[in-house]
Amino acid sequence: MSFRNDFLWGGATAANQLEGAWTADGRGPSIADVITGGTAQRSRTLTYVGPDGKPGHLEFFGDLHEPPQGSTFAPIEGEWYPNHDGIDFYHTYRKDIALMAEMGFKALRLSVSWSRIFPTGMEEEPCEAGLAFYDGVFDCLREHGIEPVVTISHYETPLALVNEWNGWTDRRTIDCFVRYATTLFERYRGKVRYWMTFNEINVMNTNAWLGAGLASSDPKVTMRAAHHMLVASSRAVKVGHEIDPQNQIGCMLTFSQGMVYPYSCRPEDVHKAWELANRCYFFSDVQARGYYPSYQLKRYEREGIDIGMTEQDERDLREGCVDYIGFSYYRSTTVSTDPTTPLVDPDSPMKEILGVKNPYLTVSDWGWTIDPVGLRNALDNLYDRYQKPLFIVENGLGAVDMLKEGHTVDDDYRIDFLRSHIEAMKDAVEIDGVDLMGYLWWGPIDLISASTGEMKKRYGFIYVDRNDDNTGSLKRFRKKSFGWYKKVIASNGEDLA
Ligand code: BG6
Repeated sequence: MSFRNDFLWGGATAANQLEGAWTADGRGPSIADVITGGTAQRSRTLTYVGPDGKPGHLEFFGDLHEPPQGSTFAPIEGEWYPNHDGIDFYHTYRKDIALMAEMGFKALRLSVSWSRIFPTGMEEEPCEAGLAFYDGVFDCLREHGIEPVVTISHYETPLALVNEWNGWTDRRTIDCFVRYATTLFERYRGKVRYWMTFNEINVMNTNAWLGAGLASSDPKVTMRAAHHMLVASSRAVKVGHEIDPQNQIGCMLTFSQGMVYPYSCRPEDVHKAWELANRCYFFSDVQARGYYPSYQLKRYEREGIDIGMTEQDERDLREGCVDYIGFSYYRSTTVSTDPTTPLVDPDSPMKEILGVKNPYLTVSDWGWTIDPVGLRNALDNLYDRYQKPLFIVENGLGAVDMLKEGHTVDDDYRIDFLRSHIEAMKDAVEIDGVDLMGYLWWGPIDLISASTGEMKKRYGFIYVDRNDDNTGSLKRFRKKSFGWYKKVIASNGEDLA
């Protein structure tokens, strides 16, 4: 037997990508609510209303820039915001969870929408309707024997914090976050045991809007905000442990940006890969070890970045180390010092993030490199570095699915992806001795894509009849992978035929 008996098989989601009901029961808008729809080639945008009352759009990828002074981020007339409606999970969660239970899920990762609990983020008292909604969700999961795994903030800082204080650049946001996290730990004590503070915190390197609601790519701004998030995370971990010592609280990295290969064995390429990987490791180094690594401090010194570290911050970071390392893994990244090396997908708005083409690997419909062995490499590297339990809290394949007669999808490509990644994970556990807590498939039910805003980029075992032109019945159908994953879970990862 490779995997622990209590291995957490299941799936992962995020509130802003599936709940919809964006104004229900007093919910305030979040940073996800001002991102328009996009496609594989056309970038999503951020919308705002300028000081003259005129609407405007900003870039979502690449170099982010602030809007004119006096602007307010807001949805604007005539634009399309796919996250507003999601897949209506707010109203359908009982049926959706029942389908996941049918697959035998042991765990479901979901996030709490911060602005359902504190509509502006700044209130002293939480919103009861929001808290009650998640009581319903967690109770429903427990009734089905499914363990909730909760991300406290998944790409959805309340928009008011951004408009009023420029969000995470302001230290007051730390207190707002700790108040919010404390509210969750107290309210859901005994119902939720597995937590993560921030989703993919290292996204601050590449898209500070998703990470923190910052329309900026200036490291002087983004790294200060990242510091505040790290302090907030450590304070939340401390409080979470005080409220319930049973709580297991992890960090969460996008390790697609941590599993970095040099394009060649040129020492300069190897060094570049090391440097880029450290941009990712920096966050877990702080969250797992409790202090800033020397390479990051030197970078700040060199680039004149002042993060405003206080003695109290240093204490908080030391005292709030995480219990496990959670990470997402979709792809590896290859880098080269030679600017003429072909990019993996030159037409993608994410082209710089996706890196250069690895000649040994294929790519998905969205240009994401498919690399199952990279998952084993990731597990080995992370375990070697921290010797803490690891948790794969996202892995998946976004693909174009064709619903066929009989209301199913023959998604053998998804099954192949799953099989190869589970085999790699098995090798890491069986051969390399990695301590792995669980495996959560991203998007067990089709939901809104974070990078493109599309429904067309489907991940689910459950098909949702919703299209990018806002048509569709929202009905749910089982794909072929539904039965396959069920079999894998029932055999604790042994039956991969
Ligand atoms: C992760 C995020 O980066 O990747 C999710 O945590 C996201 O929110 C997932 O949905 C897949 O990315 P995308 O862009 O295909 O939705």
